[in-house]
Amino acid sequence: MLDNDIEKVLVSAEEIKEIAEKMGKQLSDDYRGQFPLVIGLLKGCVPFMGMLVTEMDIHVELAFMDVSSYHGGIESSGDVKISKDLDISVSGRDIIIAEDIVDTGRTIKVITELLKYRGAKSVKIATLLDKPAGRVVELSPEYVGKVIPKEFVVGFGLDFNEKYRNLPYVGVLKQSVYK
Ligand code: PRP
Repeated sequence: MLDNDIEKVLVSAEEIKEIAEKMGKQLSDDYRGQFPLVIGLLKGCVPFMGMLVTEMDIHVELAFMDVSSYHGGIESSGDVKISKDLDISVSGRDIIIAEDIVDTGRTIKVITELLKYRGAKSVKIATLLDKPAGRVVELSPEYVGKVIPKEFVVGFGLDFNEKYRNLPYVGVLKQSVYK
């Protein structure tokens, strides 16, 4: 049972659903009449991005990049690596980056700058979680589901050594699991 490794639940499955509904509605209102490109940063984006776009009632195009900065540990390495790039042009596009978490902010900053350099018309961030206490670069995501404290969290896309991404909620891992 994966639940046995979890110290406490931080964002329940019900709360995640509510967040996706609210954010999806807001994005639909804000982008109505446009055809935004929703870019997911693999792999953490998968569950939330999937839920979020099904709560949007406007046309969206989906695309993915595989970007990582943690490389398996519990601390961000600060080194942002693109292992799969986009296969479409972003020139002139309105982009929504769908994320599971913004922590140090390095990943989003690097990717936002890259997309703008490539000619994106606008780039906004929609994230399930925001951990502002972890920030090392100046950055405020436009759409935030929930602000969380500086704790190592797993679930709903977030992993520890590639595990726990499939938990239906976000929780704090027991220290005994990683110490
Ligand atoms: C995590 C998460 C964000 C990023 C946030 O991805 O999904 O993309 O780190 O951290 P930052 O704000 O400190 O840059 P990770 O690099 O672990 O890759 P993953 O999505 O494959 O788990």
